[in-house]
Amino acid sequence: ADDGYRLWLKYDLLPDAAQRKAYQQAAQFVAVEGTSSPVLQSAVKELQLGLKGLLGQTVSVTAGAAKKQGGILLRVTSSANVTANDRSAKLNKEGYRVFSEKGNIVVAGPTDAAVLYGTFALLRQLQTQQPLTNLALTSSPKIEYRMLNHWDNPNGTVERGYAGSSIWKWYELPELLDPRYLDYARANASIGINGVVINNVNASARYLTPEYLRKVAALASVFRRYGIRVYLSVFWAAPKTLGGLATSDPLDPNVRRWWTDKTNEIYKTIPDFGGFLVKANSEGEPGPQDYGRNHAEGANMLAEALGQHDGIVMWRAFVYKANSNGDRFKEAYEEFKPLDGKFATKALVQVKNGPIDFMAREPFHPLFGAMPSTPLVLEVQLTQEYLGFATHMVYLGPLIKECLETDTYAKGKGSTVAKVVDGSVDNHQISGIAGVANIGSDRNWTGHPMGQANWYAYGRLAWDHTLSSAVIAKEWTRMTLTNEPKAVTTITNMMVKSRDIYVRYTMPLGLHHIMGQSIHYGPEPWLAKSARPDWTAVYYHKADSIGLGFDRTAKGSNALSLYKPEVQQAWGNPQTCPLNYLLWFHHVPWKQQLSTGRTLWNELCYRYYTGADSVTWMQQQWTQVKPAIDPALHADVAARLQTQRKEAIWWRDACVLYFQTYAKQPIPAPFAPPE
Ligand code: GCU
Repeated sequence: ADDGYRLWLKYDLLPDAAQRKAYQQAAQFVAVEGTSSPVLQSAVKELQLGLKGLLGQTVSVTAGAAKKQGGILLRVTSSANVTANDRSAKLNKEGYRVFSEKGNIVVAGPTDAAVLYGTFALLRQLQTQQPLTNLALTSSPKIEYRMLNHWDNPNGTVERGYAGSSIWKWYELPELLDPRYLDYARANASIGINGVVINNVNASARYLTPEYLRKVAALASVFRRYGIRVYLSVFWAAPKTLGGLATSDPLDPNVRRWWTDKTNEIYKTIPDFGGFLVKANSEGEPGPQDYGRNHAEGANMLAEALGQHDGIVMWRAFVYKANSNGDRFKEAYEEFKPLDGKFATKALVQVKNGPIDFMAREPFHPLFGAMPSTPLVLEVQLTQEYLGFATHMVYLGPLIKECLETDTYAKGKGSTVAKVVDGSVDNHQISGIAGVANIGSDRNWTGHPMGQANWYAYGRLAWDHTLSSAVIAKEWTRMTLTNEPKAVTTITNMMVKSRDIYVRYTMPLGLHHIMGQSIHYGPEPWLAKSARPDWTAVYYHKADSIGLGFDRTAKGSNALSLYKPEVQQAWGNPQTCPLNYLLWFHHVPWKQQLSTGRTLWNELCYRYYTGADSVTWMQQQWTQVKPAIDPALHADVAARLQTQRKEAIWWRDACVLYFQTYAKQPIPAPFAPPE
């Protein structure tokens, strides 16, 4: 049975003998042109593994093609002359071309890593059973730093992790390298991820000790062969706790020297170290504000410590104050917007997709488009903290795409979040994107087998944000679950709809932050008391006898004013605001008629009920594909869908009954079942 360990790199024997034969003829040998390297060796090994599995063919490795035909040539060459007669767009340093030349398949790119990415693209072609004749695959990543952020702790726990414990075995490192690290690197390289932050943003200073740096270096030695660099989250107060200094003030000369020395020590241990990720002055973490300094002064101090080393600082904008009695929505903007232009060139500001915290649907963060002088890293969450952990099937491709595609109007129409992030709107030299990993020690990596698709989709979108989330879902399904056409269509359809279904049975119409206190699981809309008002549910939904929703127009908190006029216009009028964002911005009377013809109360009920019923639909769809799926995997997902169905009803009933105490209206007669 398939235990999910191999992810989308399954390489099972292709079923069609004729097709196999054609592939076999085109892939009889592999040749590295010019000098080989560890990264090119990884490409060779992957081809050998893939071709053995998919075609049952053992391929030989030769030094060059000489006059042979029917092989795969790996070619590192400067972008301009990939082939003499190829005049198509220039590749960037990680971009590849795969094409046919004199009876061979050439995988070419300007760097070793580019060729590795091209190799995975070629294997994907085989796995999804595409023709190899007249091959012309050309692709360059649109974003330079494509990061996974692990929220893993030294003791092996994972903050907001639902797939077992951490995959890093700190007690065994550096001597013992779990073979899993290599498979992890392969999986990441196959989707173009080139950087991993290995520890939690709520960071332990321990990672900066010589003892742990050696362990991190051991991981780096595996990842390096796959074009992946390691980064560390840093604990701001480390100069005090580790260095014994009296302060961690970023303007203090001793503190600056401590960080410079520490950074040099890191580079001595890990020569290709990627840099730092920082959560400071947020949720109780220390930071420069403890000394009256601002975020830019903190980030610039680390940028200075990086000096001539090839490393960057990613400074997080996820900040909000305990004693704020305004609107949490506005806080990051208010703290960071005035600092635009004050960050050093090596510093990027990392912004969550939405202004609150990884809700199932959020409007885009108002900082996107508001800091033209600062490269902004988009942070999305793959671990399903607020989206049903590892029991609910929620494919995140549509969520990530929705954010990327929204227009900020920063420089007129077409200034989408994607184009702000890839640097094209403001002509930035560096660009980044980060996904909070959903990976753990579970045999299948992500707990929910379908969670693998979120890791996959994130990587594919980080590489090319113009890809459609449905196309990615299809590609993943074919590589991971089945190539049977009808099943592929059914599964892809379920995946594409799953996020909207989740929104409907949990937080429809723009409701947000009404989940269970601190665990972030299940409904708790009645939550009114917590250590902080902005951790309650009532702070966000504001239900009363009149209506429901957070008024963020000029009559309310005026958070809407943080957006460009075009966005304000789209969302500012409750009559025309898209229903998906309605309660994010408006307090709407229960009896108000919406564009659907239903009143707010009836629409709310409609969405909760049809949302929960749609999980039954998902179950039915999954039953249909049973013959095409590995039995153990099918049973696993079927069981999780049962839990999801039960909990969708829990959400529906809890929320409808609670809001009914304000709306004081009956639940409408049963709704017609959805598709
Ligand atoms: C959320 C999450 C925390 C996490 C934080 C962050 O609030 O619940 O566990 O530390 O995000 O992104 O820093």
